[in-house]
Amino acid sequence: MRCLSFFFLFPMIALGFRGMATLLNDIERRQSNPTTSDLIGDLVDGASTTVGRRVRDCITGVGSCEYQERKNYERPGDLGSANCQADLCCAWDFLQQELVELFRNENGTCNGLARASVRLGFHDAGAWSRTSSTGGADGSFLLSPDEIQRPENDGLQDVRIEALQLLKKYSKYGIGAADLVQFMHNVATVTCPLGPRLLTLIGRHDHDEANPPGLIPSNNASDPTFLIELFENKTITARDLAALLGAHTVAQQFYVDPSRAGQPLDSTPGVWDMNFYREMALSDPPRGIFRLPSDSALSQAPGTSSRFQAFTDETFGQTVWNVQYAAAYVRLSLLGVNNINQLTDCTKVLPDAVTSFSAVSPTTSSASTAAQHLTTPRSI
Ligand code: HEM
Repeated sequence: MRCLSFFFLFPMIALGFRGMATLLNDIERRQSNPTTSDLIGDLVDGASTTVGRRVRDCITGVGSCEYQERKNYERPGDLGSANCQADLCCAWDFLQQELVELFRNENGTCNGLARASVRLGFHDAGAWSRTSSTGGADGSFLLSPDEIQRPENDGLQDVRIEALQLLKKYSKYGIGAADLVQFMHNVATVTCPLGPRLLTLIGRHDHDEANPPGLIPSNNASDPTFLIELFENKTITARDLAALLGAHTVAQQFYVDPSRAGQPLDSTPGVWDMNFYREMALSDPPRGIFRLPSDSALSQAPGTSSRFQAFTDETFGQTVWNVQYAAAYVRLSLLGVNNINQLTDCTKVLPDAVTSFSAVSPTTSSASTAAQHLTTPRSI
């Protein structure tokens, strides 16, 4: 496990990284003051199991939510065999193999289905607030016919169809919709070069009732105060929101401005790199790159702007961002889940992280380079 300890951070400060002191203060504050309001689901009543304690530590910044070990999981048997059925993670290992093939381009970058899977995870889990009695990471995005009709979910139709096909194939092996959606997110991030390998949990309960409306931001959202409050009501701080928005490093837009459909939100949409934050720091986006009104507003807003700046750091930005993204996303992926203590940790079946990637110049910012990573308008 890669842990962002003080031992690791101190040399960064010594090297003079401007944003690092702020980041260290932030992490120290979270370590010394994990409040009950930071906890979610059944963890509010206590972390009573090994998994519960791991999740509690990871979402409050005490431990890591990112696992960099090399994969050494060996399947105990064929899919459907008694040995495989006896290991709760076994069927997920078969599924991850299928997903990697679906998500990866020949040149090693991740494709449009991977991008849509990252967004899908957010749109299922994020439809929850402190005051909603239902919703969250419950698979309702797949199981209810209603959520996909909402305008904020435009663009997720194809990935939903793909997910439903996988559900049909794998449900007989114990795979449920809520876990499937979050698993697709986690396989997508680790398949995208430089993406984090996240703590991956199995055992959420499925619900087929549509999540409450109004909890996922609209495509044209641009009021930063509203957006920060919307996420704070999900227990996600402004700092965590800034880290989550980095997922737009692997994004295209189709519906905000249909006349520019297919334009990416950074110059390397097949790579989980920092170009999104770097290009947001420019006064204008590079040619051919689309800037969302919400990203523009939040990159300037108190509470989020310092993170946008910190994640641009050439030396440490990627590491620090991946750590913060992991903590924020694991929290997001458990909203509305009230059996966290009973979940199973299947992180071991995820593929290895791709920690260096040279097929694309990380400094490039031209529209033509962006286009090289988009083999079709929606490059699935
Ligand atoms: C303030 C919060 C957010 C807003 C307003 C927002 C808005 C948007 C919009 C408007 C699009 C383009 C949709 C289209 O026109 O096709 C988009 C795409 C995307 N978003 Fe967000 N987003 C937010 C947060 C997040 C979060 C938290 C994640 C993931 C953790 C995420 C992941 C993505 C991804 C991966 C795409 C690209 C999907 C694709 O290329 O198919 N977004 N987002």
